[in-house]
Amino acid sequence: MSIPQEFIQELKSRTDIADIISGYVSLKKTGRNYMGLCPFHGEKTPSFSVSPEQGFFHCFGCGEGGDVITFIKKIENLDYVEAIRFLAQKAGLSVPEDGQSKGLGDLKKRIYEANREAARFFYKKLYSPEGREALGYLKKRQLTDKTITHFGLGYSPGSRFELVNHLKKLGFTNQELFQANLANETKNGNPIDRFSDRVMFPIIDLRGNVIGFGGRIMSDIKPKYLNTSDTPVFNKSRNLFALRFAKQKANGQLILVEGYMDVIALHQAGFENAVATLGTALTQEQAAIIKRYCDEVVICYDSDEAGQKATQRAISILRPTGLNIRIVKVPDGKDPDEFIKAHGEQGPARFRLLLEKSGNDVEYRFGRLRSKYNTDIPDERIAYLTEAAKLIATLENSIERDYYISKLSREQDISKDAISGQVGKYLRSNKKQTDIRQQKEAMLELSAARNNINKEKRGKLRAATAEEALLAIIMTEPDTAASLFKELSPDLFATSFNKRLYQILKSRSDSGYDFTITDISGELSDEEMKGAAEILAEAHKVGDPLEAAREYIGILRDEAQKLTPDQISMASDEELMRELARIKKKKQQ
Ligand code: CTP
Ligand code: MN
Repeated sequence: MSIPQEFIQELKSRTDIADIISGYVSLKKTGRNYMGLCPFHGEKTPSFSVSPEQGFFHCFGCGEGGDVITFIKKIENLDYVEAIRFLAQKAGLSVPEDGQSKGLGDLKKRIYEANREAARFFYKKLYSPEGREALGYLKKRQLTDKTITHFGLGYSPGSRFELVNHLKKLGFTNQELFQANLANETKNGNPIDRFSDRVMFPIIDLRGNVIGFGGRIMSDIKPKYLNTSDTPVFNKSRNLFALRFAKQKANGQLILVEGYMDVIALHQAGFENAVATLGTALTQEQAAIIKRYCDEVVICYDSDEAGQKATQRAISILRPTGLNIRIVKVPDGKDPDEFIKAHGEQGPARFRLLLEKSGNDVEYRFGRLRSKYNTDIPDERIAYLTEAAKLIATLENSIERDYYISKLSREQDISKDAISGQVGKYLRSNKKQTDIRQQKEAMLELSAARNNINKEKRGKLRAATAEEALLAIIMTEPDTAASLFKELSPDLFATSFNKRLYQILKSRSDSGYDFTITDISGELSDEEMKGAAEILAEAHKVGDPLEAAREYIGILRDEAQKLTPDQISMASDEELMRELARIKKKKQQ
């Protein structure tokens, strides 16, 4: 680790995890801890807890967890060293440089640099003779030079070696070009340009780093778009196109569209709060990001069937965040870009009208439902009423339910009581199902989160539980820990994750450093930090920690002496006799 321990200690003493996290999550104090809505998965009831005393966070819903550094890494999409810098800046400290911060941090930096150079190269090519056709294409799509420059659009030449040669001249290695996914590897291991003869859309994160590209072909050849695959700096499910611009203009509302071209056309038309996903369906992580920058999201996907299906899916991902959702349906089977173009000078004004008369997601779902039935036919009318009652029963707010019951009653000339009765029935059965489902999900999520980290736990439940209780004591009771380190050998640990955690804590203590969860985050992966935070979150307060710890050590000793099923089948008669005698003796005690 290139950052001195002393500095991390200093940083830690000046950083309050609850304070930092409350910049992202609204936290409520409950006892010694804080609770809030988890920023890493959409939820309506808080299961995200922060312990300022012990310096960790843990989500009982999705299993995410760690210390303040892990939190910043995850929420700001930074690596360890970058997260330290970020926190240092907030604390008013400057990170001592030792000039050799090697590792992933460096690779990421090189990828950002390569991407930036590539973006510059593409942009220059667009305005060079080689880029004439591409520039013509963008002009034909009515983009102005100002817009092209604003978004940094460009052109990747068709030769398949120009970018590679350019970047190599600037000192980038083949490996860096592969890692940035700017080059593909030929059979001989040589790099060739990944993007060839395409209009290039750089994807830029919130801090202005170029993290990847989308490249559009100018003909009908497939694939229409080629995107950067996930790299150490690029994760399609955690970023949104143009969010950097849109968050500044959001003013409480973001417009979510499907395509890069839609975003660009909308921004040019004055709707600078438009964002798009990056060639994949909307994810929970993106929903959580959207929620961070607005209270209302307007979904404006393509009006074809695929777009409408995607709309339904996006609604179901966005609903749990509590965001206000509105839906714009673009008429005539167009996408937002085509709609604005089709109306020429009036395009922006007409789109504004569409936005203003956009219905909320409930209206939208009613509209979709209504269009499936011919209510002149009695059977279909009954089917429609039944489905509509089911839909109303999914709404959480009783005033909202009442409003739609009245509306449906007027529209179909059916008494409000009849509809209410039906809605009530569905409501009760939904509630039962949700309760059961939520319980099941919570159990599954918890065990899945933990099993991923400590896979051996399932088979060694008793030992692993004792190990976790011990680790929790060590991380929270430094005085007790000091004597435990002396008497507890790592070899007594039955599961390797817990053993590793113990060794790390012990070796920190041996070298005279602190060993709370914050002190070890440099040595653990994010996944492992999750495990450590969960151990703390699940720990119960014990009366006398040393006494409790000795009991747990006893359990470990006991478990260590037991033969495993494999050993039992391999054991000699003599060994088996000894084991049986041991068990018998223990029972008599
Ligand atoms: N997309 C992709 N790969 C494809 C097709 C689409 O990644 N082969 C993604 C791109 O992010 C694209 C979005 O899906 O912007 C929407 O696709 P589409 O509606 O087909 O493209 P438009 O953005 O409308 O582009 P254009 O108007 O140039 O056809
Ligand atoms: Mn389009």
